[in-house]
Amino acid sequence: MELYLTKNFGKPNAIAMAGYLKHGGYRALRKVLKKMEPKDVVEEVKDSGLRGRGGAGFPTGLKWSFMPQETDGPKYIACNADESEPGTFKDREFLEKEPQMMIEGLIISAYAMGVNTCYIYIRGEYATQTKILQQALAEAYEKKFLGRNILGSGFDCDIYVHRGAGAYICGEETGLMESIEGKKGQPRKKPPFPANFGLWGRPTTVNNVETFAQVPHIINKGASWFRGIGTEKSTGNTIFGVSGHVNKPGAYELPLGYGLKDLIYKDAGGIRNGRELKAVIPGGSSVKVLPADRIDVPLDHDSLTNAGSSLGTGAVIVMDDTTCMVRVGVVLAHFYRHESCGQCTNCREGSAWLHQLMVGIENGQGKIEDLDLLMDVADSLEGSSICALADAAAWPVQGLVTHFRDEFEEHIKTGKCTSPDSFRI
Ligand SMILES: Cc1cc2nc3c(=O)[nH]c(=O)nc-3n(C[C@H](O)[C@H](O)[C@H](O)COP(=O)(O)O)c2cc1C
Repeated sequence: MELYLTKNFGKPNAIAMAGYLKHGGYRALRKVLKKMEPKDVVEEVKDSGLRGRGGAGFPTGLKWSFMPQETDGPKYIACNADESEPGTFKDREFLEKEPQMMIEGLIISAYAMGVNTCYIYIRGEYATQTKILQQALAEAYEKKFLGRNILGSGFDCDIYVHRGAGAYICGEETGLMESIEGKKGQPRKKPPFPANFGLWGRPTTVNNVETFAQVPHIINKGASWFRGIGTEKSTGNTIFGVSGHVNKPGAYELPLGYGLKDLIYKDAGGIRNGRELKAVIPGGSSVKVLPADRIDVPLDHDSLTNAGSSLGTGAVIVMDDTTCMVRVGVVLAHFYRHESCGQCTNCREGSAWLHQLMVGIENGQGKIEDLDLLMDVADSLEGSSICALADAAAWPVQGLVTHFRDEFEEHIKTGKCTSPDSFRI
């Protein structure tokens, strides 16, 4: 299995430009500027089958092809480094350990889409990573990979860093754009789509940190090399972030389609303290939970959808048999209630209802009818708001109540927790 994303992570100097250049960095940028037309770059990325790593898995080359080539004014790219989905920490790896990889990918994408101005929207809590990023950008300017007439090609590109202020909703691409514009981070109605009406009403493309980091490798080694990794419809490696009750939590670079069971038991060292596995959330907190008997599944888009969950951000949250699933429901419902921007009534009120019902069950005041009510509210939230935050609030609840109904009923009947050792916050 070939590691290409994390190969140099942790090596001396990997953070600095010198280290990145030593590892073959900026070869891809030189190649596109000298030998490739912008449309050929878009085609190469399209052919690679690369799908966005920000959660929705949208085909990257296709997204880039939506950007109008000829325009009478500016176009923009925003790199989404908001990384606020609970459980997700893969982008932090790129930002901290080899930031030039993502920067090189961003410059290549700017060339491909005829963009001269890019923004990196980084989550406010990533203070250390912001410093690393700013240092990396300064080095890229110094080496003339950014700025005017890059490497004598006639192509200009600037990258600006914009820090968030701790709102999950600003990771949603149109909320992100509102925030960059200095407004409240409330998502916009679509259509119009960002490719036509994005930042300041101009054509804009938003991609995730990891999506950009994949690009130099595709350019250097070719689309068919990339398509040869992973599965037919989920190509390339990704970084799975494993957290929770495993012996070795951490970031694991593996091909898409890798087995969830192997990731937990082989790579992440199995369940800590010799306990039994109870459940896994395979793609960040917004996707549906899988009970222990359903983890024999490959980690790719189609397989996880068929298994009733989703690949999401590849953030694998592992829970052992001490975990109270009602408590999990309370924690997740609280997060989405708190992070709903409040703009859409359904999301604002529905996420609050989900949380309130969960708290009632946890506190021993729940009624059996509450379980159907939880499912009713969750079902009515799906697809009901401007952005997907309402879905993100609904899916965990649907997953928990479907797979762990007995445990919820037990809580309601006995008025107490069946897993008294479960975590408390
Ligand atoms: C509530 C919400 C939060 C999101 N947060 C992030 C985030 O932190 N990082 C990210 O890359 N995408 C996030 N997304 C997805 C973005 O809207 C968008 O699809 C993504 O940045 C596109 O990049 P990609 O095509 O490279 O995946 C979020 C979506 C929603 C609905």
